[in-house]
Amino acid sequence: MNETIIDELSARIKELQAKTEQEVEEIRVKLLGKKGEITRLFEEFRTVPAEQKRLFGQRLNVLKNEAQQRLAALRENMSAGDAAASGDDLTMPGDEMPLGSRHPISITREEILSIYKKFGYSVAEGPEVEDDWHVFGALNFPPEHPARDMQDTFFINNQTDNNILLRTHTSSIQVRTMETGQLPIRVVCPGRVFRNEAISARAHCIFHQVEGLYIDKNVSFADLKQAVLLFAQEMFGPETQIRLRPSYFPFTEPSAEVDVSCNICKGKGCNICKGTGWLEIMGCGMVDPNVLEANGIDSKEYSGFAFGMGVERIAMLKWQVKDLREYFENDVRFLKEFATVV
Ligand code: PHE
Repeated sequence: MNETIIDELSARIKELQAKTEQEVEEIRVKLLGKKGEITRLFEEFRTVPAEQKRLFGQRLNVLKNEAQQRLAALRENMSAGDAAASGDDLTMPGDEMPLGSRHPISITREEILSIYKKFGYSVAEGPEVEDDWHVFGALNFPPEHPARDMQDTFFINNQTDNNILLRTHTSSIQVRTMETGQLPIRVVCPGRVFRNEAISARAHCIFHQVEGLYIDKNVSFADLKQAVLLFAQEMFGPETQIRLRPSYFPFTEPSAEVDVSCNICKGKGCNICKGTGWLEIMGCGMVDPNVLEANGIDSKEYSGFAFGMGVERIAMLKWQVKDLREYFENDVRFLKEFATVV
């Protein structure tokens, strides 16, 4: 064995080139395979005289390392080269990820809530699966009231008692707020509600509400009217007018439906307001003393008002959506129309 052979081999290893995986493998076999040049040198090493073993041992190990490193480098070049060889253009800009947009119901819900937050209301939420007491009992619904009927309410199937149901309005959250015993109350309650209705352009079995409750000393109907007017003007524009029509709810007395002047025809009459110049937006009224008492509030000391509106309805009026089902089908062509609404 002599050092020149090792020097030459070392120099050659540094210059090795390969174009394919197969070529790299061929080089490996030639150097390190069973009959490879380096393998053979190791065999020869056995015959080296003892006083030279140290020198040649070190030199051979270095040589083997150099070969392994060169092979690894060639392999690495190969995988980078593969992408280029496959015809992929690595400099091409990536595909744009389509950005989603907020759902019109979310946009409307947030807008309603932000108006009430500005008026000093806080936001409360509650469970969608409720019991009879929080949805009806505490709200002065007589036992035979038709709203408890199977026609309207989805009961959770329970053979022993059908006391558990999907809330039909978010007034149940108002009950839960009154139960805490903290007064005064100024709260808005958003949420999904469920009613057993046939699905059509104007009705759906699931929709969203925002209801509100204000309880304090000396709260009057005038306060309610002012609160409704301010909300309507924030939501539909400063020129908006309101009118209240007498109505009935078990939990409010007196009760009213609120109409706003049509924001499309400005009250002249169009097909959105069906020629009347007015659009119905919510129900409201003074909290019935029976409701206050049922929830442990002294009705001689406290009074209050409540209101409730459908988010879909408000969104329909704001953007002239004609069919309620659009909100649930999530056709991107429909949803994209709201992409620019903040
Ligand atoms: N809870 C009523 C409903 O779902 C709405 C409402 C709330 C009416 C508060 C008056 C006062 O229809």
